[in-house]
Amino acid sequence: MSKIALITGANKGIGLETARQLAHRDVHVIIGSRDRAKGVEAALRLQGEGLAVEALSLDVLDAASIAAAVGEVTQRHGALDILVNNAGVMLDDPAKKVSEQSLDVWRRTFATNVFAMIEVTQAFLPLLRKSAAGRIVNVSSLLGSVTLHAQPGSPIYDFKVPAYNCSKSTVNAWTVQLAYELKDTPMKVNAVHPGHVKTDMGGPAAPMELVDGAKTSVALALLDASGPTGAFLHLGESLPW
Ligand SMILES: NC(=O)c1ccc[n+]([C@@H]2O[C@H](COP(=O)([O-])OP(=O)(O)OC[C@H]3O[C@@H](n4cnc5c(N)ncnc54)[C@H](OP(=O)(O)O)[C@@H]3O)[C@@H](O)[C@H]2O)c1
Repeated sequence: MSKIALITGANKGIGLETARQLAHRDVHVIIGSRDRAKGVEAALRLQGEGLAVEALSLDVLDAASIAAAVGEVTQRHGALDILVNNAGVMLDDPAKKVSEQSLDVWRRTFATNVFAMIEVTQAFLPLLRKSAAGRIVNVSSLLGSVTLHAQPGSPIYDFKVPAYNCSKSTVNAWTVQLAYELKDTPMKVNAVHPGHVKTDMGGPAAPMELVDGAKTSVALALLDASGPTGAFLHLGESLPW
């Protein structure tokens, strides 16, 4: 039987490409999207390529939407093998200094990138525990690396979008905390840097194509029992926290 994967924010960008690549690896993929029409459109596109995918309404900021999504997945599949927490936002105003970003931006960034990720994970953990080997992939960013932000000359040193960066540092920290809880189970949870990828968020000048940007999430979603947990990875390489 195929594994079942749910990807949040999978109607476009890295999430959609992750859905495509997982479906090519014989995973049945549930495309989560906050806008139902966009999710259905994305699912139809992949179905048109002969892939086994379905759409699911899931606004990660809405507790009722999360509860309804858990109900749907329970009813349709009874278990979940892979959760890819991919939905994310970057809201910092690039014209403002680190100290000038508004509290509203900080709160909205953490609401989606951190608190919603925790809430979605908590909600789907019972279904993941029913899998023989549940996998949780938290889509983070190299921009969450505190070590590299503190290092003059590092590739991210001058890229200070603080609300986004600190939200991804927290995603990394959360991943380590959850991995501790799950260490004596078959489950694994890891944080991913996809690369700087051409998407609406990454911009058209980003050096990495979508096809490569999805590879790390796909690899960690399909980890076997010998794979890492509580790690921060990009294309098989460990990254500095
Ligand atoms: N692109 C890069 O260079 C890069 C680098 C490092 C990390 N990342 C991370 O990779 C992930 C995917 O980014 P991307 O580049 O593919 O960005 P993107 O093209 O902007 O896609 C973001 C996705 O998240 C969804 N989303 C946002 N808020 C949501 C909510 N409340 N509920 C459900 N879905 C929500 C968006 O839905 P809508 O279409 O409805 O807005 C969209 O599907 C993010 O976590 C991002 O931080 C990206």
